[in-house]
Amino acid sequence: MSVESEFLNLCRKRCSVRRFSDRPVEKEKLELCLEAARLAPSAENGQPWRFIVFDDPEKKMALARAVFTGIYSASRHFSKAPVLVALLVKESLIINKLGGGIQGTPFQIIDAGIAGEHFILAATEQGLGTCWIGWFNGRGLLKHLGLKRKAYRTIALFAVGYPKPNFQPKEHRRHHIKDIVFWNSLPR
Ligand SMILES: Cc1cc2nc3c(=O)[nH]c(=O)nc-3n(C[C@H](O)[C@H](O)[C@H](O)COP(=O)(O)O)c2cc1C
Repeated sequence: MSVESEFLNLCRKRCSVRRFSDRPVEKEKLELCLEAARLAPSAENGQPWRFIVFDDPEKKMALARAVFTGIYSASRHFSKAPVLVALLVKESLIINKLGGGIQGTPFQIIDAGIAGEHFILAATEQGLGTCWIGWFNGRGLLKHLGLKRKAYRTIALFAVGYPKPNFQPKEHRRHHIKDIVFWNSLPR
């Protein structure tokens, strides 16, 4: 694609970072990312997302112990990220009940995905490395936070920090545009 765009360049710059330097993350940068998330659109403007930021090293390690256990211990290396952010949605909103029950789409999960990626792209712009983490113990997270399973649904964790100095971003492996985009009809 030949069009020049700052936004496309940001999308190209973002990649999953799984190893971090010890450099602390400035609170103002985290606040900027959270503001970007706050501005995300959501079904019926329900804003079901909740972000819990673990930047206190002891609290972050306690979280890591609760969520990277058993079969999820493959994600344990993420406990070395300077910051972990938990993304949850509140399940009690009426729009989510209508979405799931009648229309069939769990809007709150879409909403959280949009807000989450706002956060991630803002972090990329700030020079931070991030990784979405889906492989963690969600029940462990709710228990750790003292939340009821009916009231909240866990979506993801984000690892946030400065990449290790020798970090080499991998090339994006993506489908060709012609394999994912169809104009006016979808060929069978
Ligand atoms: C919802 C979601 C969950 C993910 N979970 C994990 C995970 O648990 N562990 C991990 O290392 N990467 C995880 N990733 C990162 C993906 O593996 C990564 O985005 C994908 O391979 C594309 O690579 P890139 O992000 O570097 O472009 C997740 C990404 C998303 C969007």
